[in-house]
Amino acid sequence: MHPSLQSNQGIALYIHWPFCLAKCPYCDFNSHVTKTIPQDDYAKALLQELKTALALTHNRILTSIFFGGGTPSLMAPTTVQQLIECATKNLPVADQLEITLEANPTSVENQKLKDFQQAGVNRISLGIQSLNPVALKALGREHTVGQAIEALSLAKKLFHRVSFDLIYAREGQTLSQWETELDEALALANDHLSLYQLTIESGTLFAKQYQQGKLHLPDEITSSELLQMTDSVTNRHGLAAYEISNYAKPGSESKHNLAYWRYQDYIGIGPGAHGRVTIDHNLYATERYKNPQKWLISVQENGHALCHQELLSCMDKAYEMLLMGLRLTEGVKASLFEERCGIPILDAINVSMLTALIEEDYLLWDQTYLKTTAKGKIRLNAILEALLK
Ligand SMILES: C[S@@+](CC[C@H](N)C(=O)[O-])C[C@H]1O[C@@H](n2cnc3c(N)ncnc32)[C@H](O)[C@@H]1O
Ligand code: SF4
Repeated sequence: MHPSLQSNQGIALYIHWPFCLAKCPYCDFNSHVTKTIPQDDYAKALLQELKTALALTHNRILTSIFFGGGTPSLMAPTTVQQLIECATKNLPVADQLEITLEANPTSVENQKLKDFQQAGVNRISLGIQSLNPVALKALGREHTVGQAIEALSLAKKLFHRVSFDLIYAREGQTLSQWETELDEALALANDHLSLYQLTIESGTLFAKQYQQGKLHLPDEITSSELLQMTDSVTNRHGLAAYEISNYAKPGSESKHNLAYWRYQDYIGIGPGAHGRVTIDHNLYATERYKNPQKWLISVQENGHALCHQELLSCMDKAYEMLLMGLRLTEGVKASLFEERCGIPILDAINVSMLTALIEEDYLLWDQTYLKTTAKGKIRLNAILEALLK
């Protein structure tokens, strides 16, 4: 690894906790179920890996911390506290440092919310997934609707900033069923919601059932209608879509996730965590061992479990910045693109294709921002493929 770093940009920190109580049938995140979680070993190793990473980023301003998973609400609150203390003692900290923890709303974890707040967490993201008991069961969740609502009301008492996740475009779900569920969710919501369309990820139980014709998803037209309705209902309730799946009151957007989508630097530690870190004016992609046991041994032996570090080329960065930024309602800012990628945005893309995509109402370009239209948002991968030279 390179010894020094010359950048005063802010930096975000992602900490991955790889354990869950059960594996949900739709999920391909790096999450594992074990009889007993070796809490102490993982706590020590996460702290060690954090210290190693921070030694390379000492002059950066820490803008956010995100405990993701897996199920980080299964972590011991003291571990969360130690990690927060370690990061905030070793880096200068931005005003209103955002510290988010993803929590599952089972009763055991609900009892820990206060401890997480005392550990320094100031934003909670609850994985509610559905307010419909039948759907919750079909999604293989370990909690009930009642527990989810209880977790939410407790979280709202303890934290100013609370978000929750729902999964829609589920099998058989009609527009009017989703509208009712969404209205109910918005009545309960605080300042932020993440609303994901169910996607079939390879290697999951849902993928197997889908291939066997045992699971069906809404067709493309229905999905697009569901998305449009989601945007208009959330808007009616004062939450604006600021990213394809994320909705917030103005000013309550997730700073941490915005750092990813605006293609800013972030450190990623823990099994399988990715990072994007500027070192000596070069941007590196970093990756840690994905297998928790392999990750643990590597940290114990080497102080970190970095398994891949790659210098990103100008076109790598252009691709990634467009991939992330075109998800945002604000789009990609041309000046930031040039600063980050080293070339003007119009030099990185196929301009005649851009013209065609604008004419076909997939993209908007006003010389300052490049953004997707509603129609373009659901065709992002195809747009990128066409756009990049
Ligand atoms: C890191 S995951 C899970 C966090 C937490 N362990 C939980 O389950 O609540 C973050 C979110 O991604 C969403 N998600 C995961 N897999 C998905 C899929 N296949 N389709 C749509 N949304 C998905 C879920 O809403 C989930 O809460
Ligand atoms: S959705 Fe959450 S709880 Fe379920 S397996 Fe994935 S990370 Fe674990």
